[in-house]
Amino acid sequence: MDDELKRLKTQVDSLQQKLDKAEQQLQENYYFSSAAVKNLLDVGKIPEHGMAGKTVKTLIENNHSLDFDNQLNTSSYVNVTFEEAEEEVALMGLRVNLADQTVYPRSYRMHDSVVNMIARLWHCPTPSDFEEKGVFAGAGTVGSTEACLLAGLALKFRWRSWYAKKKGVAPDAVLGERPNIVISSCFQAAWEKLFKYMDIEPRIFCPQSDSFKLAPEKISELIDDHTMGVVCIMGNHYGGHYDPVQEVDRVVETINQEKGYQIGIHVDAASGGFIAPFQENLPAWDFRLANVLSISTSGHKYGESCCGTGWVVWRQREDLSEHVAISVTYLGGNADSYTLNFSRPASGVYIQYYNLLRHGIRGYRQCCDNMMQNAEFIRESLRSMTHQGKSRFVILDDGADCCLPVVTAMLNPDCGFTYNDIDLQHVLSQHHWYVSGYKMGFNHPITEEYIPIFSDQDAEQTMFRIVVKNNLTRDMASHLIESFEETFTLLDALDFSELHGVDSLALRHKDQRRISNHC
Ligand SMILES: Cc1ncc(COP(=O)(O)O)c(C=O)c1O
Repeated sequence: MDDELKRLKTQVDSLQQKLDKAEQQLQENYYFSSAAVKNLLDVGKIPEHGMAGKTVKTLIENNHSLDFDNQLNTSSYVNVTFEEAEEEVALMGLRVNLADQTVYPRSYRMHDSVVNMIARLWHCPTPSDFEEKGVFAGAGTVGSTEACLLAGLALKFRWRSWYAKKKGVAPDAVLGERPNIVISSCFQAAWEKLFKYMDIEPRIFCPQSDSFKLAPEKISELIDDHTMGVVCIMGNHYGGHYDPVQEVDRVVETINQEKGYQIGIHVDAASGGFIAPFQENLPAWDFRLANVLSISTSGHKYGESCCGTGWVVWRQREDLSEHVAISVTYLGGNADSYTLNFSRPASGVYIQYYNLLRHGIRGYRQCCDNMMQNAEFIRESLRSMTHQGKSRFVILDDGADCCLPVVTAMLNPDCGFTYNDIDLQHVLSQHHWYVSGYKMGFNHPITEEYIPIFSDQDAEQTMFRIVVKNNLTRDMASHLIESFEETFTLLDALDFSELHGVDSLALRHKDQRRISNHC
């Protein structure tokens, strides 16, 4: 009887296995209508039972496919192309926590090596403690935002100790004093974080729309004994224009000498840090200028690294980067940490290291020349587009030489279009291109009031930009131009007046707010 039971049980087990296999086969053959996948929905709650990896991957792929194509994203500066070897080293870096410097000393050495390469690219004088430390004063960050915050903090502490000394009191006695920083209204939101998080007063200069740049002769009006620094943007994100660092340096030098201040310059080279060094005919903008104390960049933009890579370099440690250095010993050795977050993957460092060695100076220069030429092609193509004998666009960027490879323009107000640059963005997206249009206004970081960026333009006026990156070939640029042309067939045939409010233009002129009243 026992034997009979055993035999039957084996038969049942075997049938069950066959059934499971058949079920599995069915699920595989009809994967998308399988029980696991057909009702797959992210409800923002951790499921009680986990899912198969393939199923979760499907959910992620679904979401990813609904994004815009990153290769056609001309809105962002962030690099989207990687060689196979870059992807391999990025994966390797995912398993390395860069904060564990004593566990991964060779990875950290690559970090230091990148800091040294970049510091030398920007002509940083060799610091006096280089022999001892083996590295310039600098750090890898997750991007320019973290780099700007660190640089801003170092300036804040430096200013505080200077101010306390000037007043003849201990630094603690001036904790209630709020320093300020001079910057143009073309600043990126990274700086808003500095103003708000670190309680620093922004002294904002608003340029005209034919400049987008700090006016060196105007900055003295914004400077006083609470000024901890002046920010020069090497490639503002709106139009890619470079602030005139050399002239700002001269003005700062004069003010420091006349008033006994010690104001320094931070260069926010988020996008220009890996473009400006490869452009000829550019006046000195980096550590060759005595008052440039720190420079930051996004490795993930024209540095060609992956998203999550940034760099900051200080002229020296003394009375500068030392203010933000934390010494840690708990990892079984002595290590300095500059960054806001300890743990981070080594992927960005690995890819940055890879690219610096892979391209070399000549490779970066070749990429830069190519991007500038493609930008010029797009610029000239837009410039040649007309509507009833008038140029369709007013070009706002800084041309073909000393600026980023960016094309910035606005629809010509003289053409009387009923659509604006943001409508243009939306219709262009039908052709798969993402070209961002935006208004010429921003919320004042302290008052939150919505005000114009430029002293001569209404905050409601719109513009757009096309960021040319390494992956944008001439062939693709030609397609983008064709898409612009096709877009106008539709836009010109429609009337957008109602959408924007019939009187919006009239209202805009009546309510023209001038930035000089606000900053
Ligand atoms: C001038 C400037 N500064 C700072 C940033 C912030 O950079 P990230 O996104 O790397 O933090 C940007 C980003 O575009 C920028 O253009």
